[in-house]
Amino acid sequence: MLSDIVASQVEFHRKFGGVVPEIASRRHLEVVNVLVEQALRDAGTGLSDVDALAVTVGPGLVGALLVGVAAAKTIAYVTRLPLVGVNHLEGHIYANFLEHADISPPFVCLVVSGGHTSLVLVRGHGDYRLLGQTLDDAAGEAFDKIAGFLGLGYPGGPIIDELAKRGDPEAVPFPRAMIDSGDFNFSLSGLKTAVLNYVARAEKEGKTVAVADLVASFQAAVVDVLVTKTARAALAERVEVIAMAGGVAANSALRRRMEEEAARAGLALFVPRPSLCTDNAAMIACAGYYRYLAGDRVGLDVTPDPNLPLA
Ligand code: KG4
Ligand code: ZN
Repeated sequence: MLSDIVASQVEFHRKFGGVVPEIASRRHLEVVNVLVEQALRDAGTGLSDVDALAVTVGPGLVGALLVGVAAAKTIAYVTRLPLVGVNHLEGHIYANFLEHADISPPFVCLVVSGGHTSLVLVRGHGDYRLLGQTLDDAAGEAFDKIAGFLGLGYPGGPIIDELAKRGDPEAVPFPRAMIDSGDFNFSLSGLKTAVLNYVARAEKEGKTVAVADLVASFQAAVVDVLVTKTARAALAERVEVIAMAGGVAANSALRRRMEEEAARAGLALFVPRPSLCTDNAAMIACAGYYRYLAGDRVGLDVTPDPNLPLA
């Protein structure tokens, strides 16, 4: 990895409590060329040293995807470099290959981000089978919504992660929805409702809510289900390696509990460093590199797909 720059938009979305699609695409447009130049400068290289270009073609917000795809196509057109299309979730999974030279398929990967919560069997490079996914809210979405509701700020994941360190995860026994459902799907909207109901009841009874205990208990419920189902999926698929990816994989409680579970079950665990769990360009380049090696190319007529499936 020669350079890795992230232009965070968090400041622009914070006062709205979530990502505003129109702001996101406008901001992409403002920074994309500057970032490409800066990335090349940081890497001490120029486009003439580049072998291929990788770009996210979905899933995601279409306006933001369009800006990236238009920029990549333009560079591909003027340089005649080969262009490779990458799935955003595939990028998250490949952050593991940037970090760990010794990871190799097959493995089961828990992909947990703001928009997705999925268990993916990675059978080989570019060869994925979706084992299960959330039926309602994504894990990151649950963190963000609970933090928003409690007035803790945006984005909720890192804020709750910090605050929960000072709380008791066993203070409130929140439900572990679908933990024994016998499949690899998740449901997180019931947990969100349980937290809201807990606060409403406490207020009605005139009790003060210990916020650190509350968020620690919420986080423990999310982590419990994610860890349990990931380990079971590895067992069911007879693989000995598990991995994590996506913004929520930066969560310290999830990382710790998954380590414990992996050790207990005799599984090897791979997780990228936190800054490579949250959205970044290096992970897209890494996934693109493996697609490039496999001869995978997209034409200049490629269009982004906001709902692009992984498998
Ligand atoms: O992968 P990502 O950066 O963007 C998407 O593709 O969605 O994930 C963003 C999500 C947000 O919901 C954010 O709150 C969550 O990841 N997140 C965390 C942590 N850091 C980021 N959730 C829990 N604990 C964290 N430390
Ligand atoms: Zn992401």
